[in-house]
Amino acid sequence: MAPVALLEHLRSEEDARFDRVFPESIRLLSRVFWTPVSVARQAAGFLVTRPGTRVLDIGCGPGKFCIAAAVGSPGHFTGIEQRRRLCEVAWRIIRNAGIPNAEVFHGDMGGLRFDDFEAFYLFNPFAEYLEPEGRIDRNIGESEGHYDEFVRTVADRLSARPTGTRVATYCGICEEIPPDYDCVGNSADGKLRFWEKSR
Ligand SMILES: C[S@@+](CC[C@H](N)C(=O)[O-])C[C@H]1O[C@@H](n2cnc3c(N)ncnc32)[C@H](O)[C@@H]1O
Repeated sequence: MAPVALLEHLRSEEDARFDRVFPESIRLLSRVFWTPVSVARQAAGFLVTRPGTRVLDIGCGPGKFCIAAAVGSPGHFTGIEQRRRLCEVAWRIIRNAGIPNAEVFHGDMGGLRFDDFEAFYLFNPFAEYLEPEGRIDRNIGESEGHYDEFVRTVADRLSARPTGTRVATYCGICEEIPPDYDCVGNSADGKLRFWEKSR
C-alpha cells in the first residue's frame, strides 16, 4: 500500500478499514486480540497529559494500539512484543507510513525498563497463559507460573513509578494493577479502565 493510502487507513475510526493495513492472518485475529481504534484513541486521551508523554504498551502485538494512538495524539507510543512475526508487521507499517511517534521492540516485557515511560497501557497481555485454547498461536508457554510471574513483575514495576502515573487497561481482571493505584474512570461498557497512582 502506498504511504498516503496507508495513512488514510490508519487515520480511520473504523476497525474494518484500519485493519486492512494488516496481512490477512493478523487481521483475522483483530476482533479478539487487538485494541479497537476508538478504544486506543480514548485511552490515549487519558494517558497523554502533554505533548511527548512516553506511553508503553505492554504486549503490543502488531502495534495496533500504538499506531492508532500515535496518528491521533501528540504522545509517544512504544510497544514491546514477544512474538517476532507480530513485531515485523508493526515495523513495516510504522516505516512505510512514516509514523514518527510510534516504535515497537521485540522481546519479553520483563527485560524492558519501566523507568523510561510515564504512562502504561495493557490489553490483557497475559490471559493466554491462563487460557491455552484461546492463544494467538502455539509459540509461547502456557503455565500459570508464567502468568503469576508476569503479573507480579508488572505490579512491582508500576508500584515503583511516581505518584500521578497513569495506566489504562482494556478488558481482563487487572491483576497487574497494584493497590497503590485507584480506578479514576472507565468507558461506558466498563471494559476500558483508567488508573492513577495515588500514594
Ligand atoms: C491481547 S494482545 C494485545 C495487543 C496490543 N496491546 C493491542 O492492544 O492491540 C496481548 C499481546 O501481549 C503479548 N505478550 C504476552 N506476554 C508478553 C511478554 N511477557 N512480553 C512481551 N509481550 C507479551 C502477546 O504476544 C500478545 O501479542
